[in-house]
Amino acid sequence: MQPDPAVAPLLSTRAIEALQSIDPETLGEVQAFREDFARFIMPYKFGIDEISTKVSILREEFAELQDYNPIEHISSRLKSAESIEQKVIRKNCEPTFEAIRDAITDIAGVRIVCSFVSDVYRVFDLLTRQEDVRVLRVKDYIAHPKPNGYKSLHVILEVPVFLSDGPVRVPVEVQLRTVAMDFWASLEHKIYYKYDGEVPERLLRDLTAAASTANQLDLTMEDLHRQVRGEGGTVYSLPASV
Ligand code: GTP
Ligand code: MG
Repeated sequence: MQPDPAVAPLLSTRAIEALQSIDPETLGEVQAFREDFARFIMPYKFGIDEISTKVSILREEFAELQDYNPIEHISSRLKSAESIEQKVIRKNCEPTFEAIRDAITDIAGVRIVCSFVSDVYRVFDLLTRQEDVRVLRVKDYIAHPKPNGYKSLHVILEVPVFLSDGPVRVPVEVQLRTVAMDFWASLEHKIYYKYDGEVPERLLRDLTAAASTANQLDLTMEDLHRQVRGEGGTVYSLPASV
């Protein structure tokens, strides 16, 4: 295969030689795979768009009508082909798009960071109550933190995405947490990667202690918030309907 003349000047001699040695059939296969992957991943991006829009609407409505915004910020990510591949291997999943669709539910990910713990459950409730949203799984790591101190409310939501050839339902992993939980989780994540999962014992202990400090901060801030707003008992857990 001859490299595209437009990109040839950007390639090394080694890369050009490697390209020249690929037979057209193999190249066609690689290109077909790229197209299939793009088709596979696209609905997940739209799933993120759907959830992001829902959250933006809630956020604007709160700001407009209640003069209060429970959502500090929202971020999202689409799992890369490399991470999907790693997870397929780790989960021993059959390497077909159908099997991956069933087994991997965090290809689309949205993180919602709230001011207070009660807001986390409130936003969760408002999102999951919407009639086009189906709840596939809930993991409440706020009520049941991980041994390292990790806290967050995880939910796999399924939303409809309307494509030109009909609707498809897409799972989106939504993580809801407070600012303090988010601060802790992002540092813990960096440390975990820096030590390649082998974090020294002392650091692990300090991290768990920091999680407890973050938790204390959340309790104090919630209490202050309630006093300022003159509100009574705050709900700290999932609504009974879940
Ligand atoms: P994965 O296969 O890794 O997705 O795990 P899972 O299917 O058991 O899901 P789980 O709900 O436990 O965690 C999913 C995601 O939550 C991870 O990809 C992280 O983004 C986040 N998470 C879970 N545990 C931790 C933790 O201990 N520290 C941090 N920083 N993030 C975590
Ligand atoms: Mg994950």
